[in-house]
Amino acid sequence: MSTFFTEAASAEAVNARMGEQSDPRLREVMAALVRHLHAFAKEVQLTQREWEFAIDFLTRTGQLCSRERQEFILLSDTLGFSMLVDAINNRRPQSATENTVFGPFHVQGAPERAMGDCISLDGKGESCLFEGSVKDLEGNPVAGARIDVWCDNADGYYDVQQPAEQPRWNNRGIFTTGADGRYRFAGVKPVSYPIPHDGPVGQMLEQLGRHPWRPAHMHFLITAPGFQKVVTHTFVGDDAWLGSDAVFGVKERLIARYERVEGGETQWRSQFDFVLTPQ
Ligand code: BEZ
Ligand code: FE
Repeated sequence: MSTFFTEAASAEAVNARMGEQSDPRLREVMAALVRHLHAFAKEVQLTQREWEFAIDFLTRTGQLCSRERQEFILLSDTLGFSMLVDAINNRRPQSATENTVFGPFHVQGAPERAMGDCISLDGKGESCLFEGSVKDLEGNPVAGARIDVWCDNADGYYDVQQPAEQPRWNNRGIFTTGADGRYRFAGVKPVSYPIPHDGPVGQMLEQLGRHPWRPAHMHFLITAPGFQKVVTHTFVGDDAWLGSDAVFGVKERLIARYERVEGGETQWRSQFDFVLTPQ
């Protein structure tokens, strides 16, 4: 029997069309999506003009996506959706290091570096030593952990945003822990920066009275055999934007200490230990 469309039973009419032979998980996800989408339009009594605006907004968002720019992920990030999906998929014991948003600026294939090397190649900014250890839940050192790090330069840009101005692989590198599980590298103290806000997502933030800033952070992607991948940052503890990160990435336990060093090789030192969860 066919189900005709009515305002009252709109979602049911759409969902009744799904074939029994289609993938059960796809059916579950799509049926819920249709239910929530229809309930949303009913709740706000969406006008035709608002529907047209939404279609145009999503079209412009897609048109800005390329190999270099992913405006849809930025939309997901700024709506807190990326952090929610990450939280659902990475529930960990209390003592384990938490994930945060991956962001668009990771680049595969960064140079492998030796412990103690410096990742800042442009000589700008306040120098900082990053050190600590990678441990398991029992506190044992994790050997062979690959620590892929990246951050912005002192002007607030990643190397890939300024290919003409910055040396390639500036503020990036991969370090592998030895038997003691320790890591140590020099770089610059990261600075806060605005996410790309010259497109539809930037317009949305402005219309909503939101700013585009992210508090200063160092990105870490840590992988080790037998352990869950950790995608995270350490945040600079005194940053003014910590309480209002544009992409909701801040978690209290990811805020790291940055200490001034007098008479040392670097001006700052940031110590942070990572705790991995078994797979
Ligand atoms: C980042 O930290 O690199 C980032 C994360 C989400 C959106 C934009 C940038
Ligand atoms: Fe970042």
